[in-house]
Amino acid sequence: MSTPADAALTAPTQFRTELRADVTRGLSASPKQLPPRWLYDALGSDLFLKITELPEYYPTRSERAILTQRAAAIADITGARTLIELGSGSSDKTRLLLNALEERHNQITYAPVDISASAMKQAVAALSADYPDLTMTPLVADFTTSLTLPPLPGPRLLAFLGGTFGNLLPDERAVFLRSTRSRLAPGDRILLGVDLVKDPDRLRAAYDDAAGVTAAFNLNVLTMLNRELRADFDPDAFEHVAVWDPHHEWIEMRLRSRREQTVTLDDLGLHVSFASGEYLRTEISSKFRPRRLASELSAAGLHVTNWWTDPDGLYGLALVARDDDLTPPR
Ligand code: AVJ
Repeated sequence: MSTPADAALTAPTQFRTELRADVTRGLSASPKQLPPRWLYDALGSDLFLKITELPEYYPTRSERAILTQRAAAIADITGARTLIELGSGSSDKTRLLLNALEERHNQITYAPVDISASAMKQAVAALSADYPDLTMTPLVADFTTSLTLPPLPGPRLLAFLGGTFGNLLPDERAVFLRSTRSRLAPGDRILLGVDLVKDPDRLRAAYDDAAGVTAAFNLNVLTMLNRELRADFDPDAFEHVAVWDPHHEWIEMRLRSRREQTVTLDDLGLHVSFASGEYLRTEISSKFRPRRLASELSAAGLHVTNWWTDPDGLYGLALVARDDDLTPPR
């Protein structure tokens, strides 16, 4: 059970190549950093599921509340026959959308895309048991680098939920939005879930929970590197840190070296020294204001047609269309 070896539905060599490149680049950079996608090996995906059940981690519950309330409207407005979901994970909240879509069309296609083969396997097995009429075309891939939308029946709804959009850096978001826009056919829509700017204490708690699940999730990336790249990280020599960056309005997850140390990654022939207190950034999680989201979309030739928040105003869900799509709303 591991990220590259686990990737049964895609080319494992590609994962390896990307892992090696990301780690070589990220550990040589200053400050040190790794792309968040590598947090999701089999254990990482399980730990993330546990995070979604923590009292401090509100985004999943908030998004589910919005979907429960709005799935019918989303199905009516979009008339979607195909649901493509980027970062589908366990596809748990997806059921709310599938139920609403299946009430309007009897033949729905679901195309989940996720980096974790283990999560995908479980999700597809669970869904095929409960949705006998659903056509599924799962794809294990990193949607940030290899996004080709399958030519499935339209209109298509491209769902990007869970706040994963916020794990992209602003430049990466701009590239992602432009390339996604260019792949939308007339009538296609994006459903985008974003976490909202709020009290920093509440944000920090969501990323540094009392039970230490997020810490285990973060530190697990070191165990993954030990296994996949024959590295000798001592996870006890690092501690989990969650920092609110008020300028960028994002949470940074970091691993802080508890002492001066040198780590060897045998597969890369790489020695990496850490000063005491030095950080390795493992994830950013951007928080949005409606105004900023609108301007990022507008720069990519997109706009919000519908905007919903949960009753507590913690989280937002946007239905997004191309500026040049004149398909009338249903
Ligand atoms: C659901 C992937 C967007 O940024 O909130 C949870 C990942 N990281 N706790 C997020 C995460 C730490 C999460 N995403």
